[in-house]
Amino acid sequence: MPPPPPAVPAYAKLNLTLAVLGKRADGYHDLASIFQTISLHDSLRFGVTSDGVLDLAVSEPELQTPENLVLRAAALLRAQVGQPALGAHIELEKEIAVQGGLGGGSSNAALTLLALDQLWQTRVPMGQLEALAARLGSDVPFFLHGGTARIAGRGEKVVPLPDVKLLSFVLAKPAVRLSTAAIFGRVTPDHYGSTEDTDALERAIIAHAPLPLDRLSNSLEPIVFAAYPEVAAARDALQAAGAPLVRMSGSGPTLYAPFATREEAAEVYLRARSSGLAVRLCHSISGTEYWASILGPLLVDGD
Ligand code: C5P
Repeated sequence: MPPPPPAVPAYAKLNLTLAVLGKRADGYHDLASIFQTISLHDSLRFGVTSDGVLDLAVSEPELQTPENLVLRAAALLRAQVGQPALGAHIELEKEIAVQGGLGGGSSNAALTLLALDQLWQTRVPMGQLEALAARLGSDVPFFLHGGTARIAGRGEKVVPLPDVKLLSFVLAKPAVRLSTAAIFGRVTPDHYGSTEDTDALERAIIAHAPLPLDRLSNSLEPIVFAAYPEVAAARDALQAAGAPLVRMSGSGPTLYAPFATREEAAEVYLRARSSGLAVRLCHSISGTEYWASILGPLLVDGD
């Protein structure tokens, strides 16, 4: 038996800012956001073949469907290069909560594009990969880059930013799943924000200055906190455990508390855990680490 293909990490993201700027004619919303990849990750293994078969085995059976973004990404890349004999047996081990606001499905899809392009040696230019990614979902193009980035449009416009100093996070996952479409469906002009917080964060990141944590914000929080009391309760519990600041990621419900040091994060994590909250400890993943940890396992001698 040949050894199994190496595991490749598909990292989650947090939204450090998320401003909804307005509704577009196509039904999507224009956004201004800063995305940050974090150490929480799913793992994928890609075994490539030339028998034209694409299949996927997922640790969570409910995700094992032909609509899974991993299979859709593989099929889209194969169609793009017009080589129907390309095949792949893909295994996906989930760690990132489904419908949690952490971009798990989008990350899986982008990693599939990057990994299969490497393993199939199809060498699709980044611009084309970005176009394929945008067809799969608004958040997918970001995960072709990882690290810290400014996001615009419906989410698909990505401007990579310099690496930020390592941040630690305590994540809290209220026991509710939220559909992105349903949360955006409740947005009214009252919820619209401006680009100010995103601009301020971007300026600090470019200047390598400490992050102005008071600028972290999310236009969707009032909608989720009002409609799902369990999310507001988890926020209160994380604050009660000592987190000075708690924000929601994406369309929720995952909450995060940022810390400059691992020690401060660990203290709050332990207190929150003993109060019965479902919490995880993680840290930021820079763009450099992102690429190294994805490409490292995929490169073979001679690449
Ligand atoms: O792009 P994606 O398929 O991830 O988006 C899911 C849904 O979330 C969209 O169909 C839309 O209803 C909503 N959405 C939005 N504005 C965005 C991104 C998503 O209204 N910028």
